[in-house]
Amino acid sequence: MDNQWKNCLEQIRRKTDFQPRIGIVLGSGLGDYGDQIQKEAVISYREIEGFPVSTVQGHRGQFVFGYIKDVPVVLMQGRVHYYEGYSMQEVVLPIRLMGLLGAGKLLLTNAAGGINTRFTAGDFMMITDQIATFVPSPLIGPNPQELGERFPDMSEIYDGKMQQKIRESARALGIPLQEGVYLQTSGPQYESPAEIRMMRALGADAVGMSTACEAIAARHMGMRVAGISCITNMASGVSEEPLSHQEVEEMGRIRAVEFRRLLEDVVPGIDKA
Ligand code: HPA
Repeated sequence: MDNQWKNCLEQIRRKTDFQPRIGIVLGSGLGDYGDQIQKEAVISYREIEGFPVSTVQGHRGQFVFGYIKDVPVVLMQGRVHYYEGYSMQEVVLPIRLMGLLGAGKLLLTNAAGGINTRFTAGDFMMITDQIATFVPSPLIGPNPQELGERFPDMSEIYDGKMQQKIRESARALGIPLQEGVYLQTSGPQYESPAEIRMMRALGADAVGMSTACEAIAARHMGMRVAGISCITNMASGVSEEPLSHQEVEEMGRIRAVEFRRLLEDVVPGIDKA
């Protein structure tokens, strides 16, 4: 594992010396955003030997280096998920690489199911905290001491100052913004209604199959983290409808324009936070 990230980092550095300040992960349906920024370099995950490559339809696989409103960023168009069969260490490798490339801050986005009955499909939810107890920790195994300590603190995973900037952006743009706790499952199956009732009782507002493990790996190495979910559907049992990946992707696409407006304001904001 040790060698894997060092090796990947070297390969990226051979292709670009770009220094991002913010790493951004684009979730389901939101990946097209990377095509619209001022690009300096694009590196396909496939070009990096030893790098995990997504197998999910709707998830592309490349790093885009460039500027959003003059802020140097690295975007991940597509991420890999635990349910694809990668180890948690592999799943978070791209996050660690973004940190090692210079990104001190991380903005995670995803598609999620709404557990909180006050939410509506299409809402944006800023993540204020998370429940990662149902998936293995990405920090299991020998601790890479160069990255962070063995027992890292997780008392403020989502950075308070960055959250405030996101609230201010949403307010200024007139975009309604929910807030809540994100719970990660391994997937790939969607939840049963009984599982959703359990998650609600545990304090979760939204559920998805990514993000929490990435936030842990980022905090481990001292990156400051923010997260925004697009509530693409109400969770199992909340709505009568069966859930489908197609529906999740479609809602992601429908909300992509608004999401882009939010991101473009959020990025310079959190850069200063
Ligand atoms: N459950 C889990 N993951 C999801 C969902 C959901 O309802 N919607 C989008 N990602």
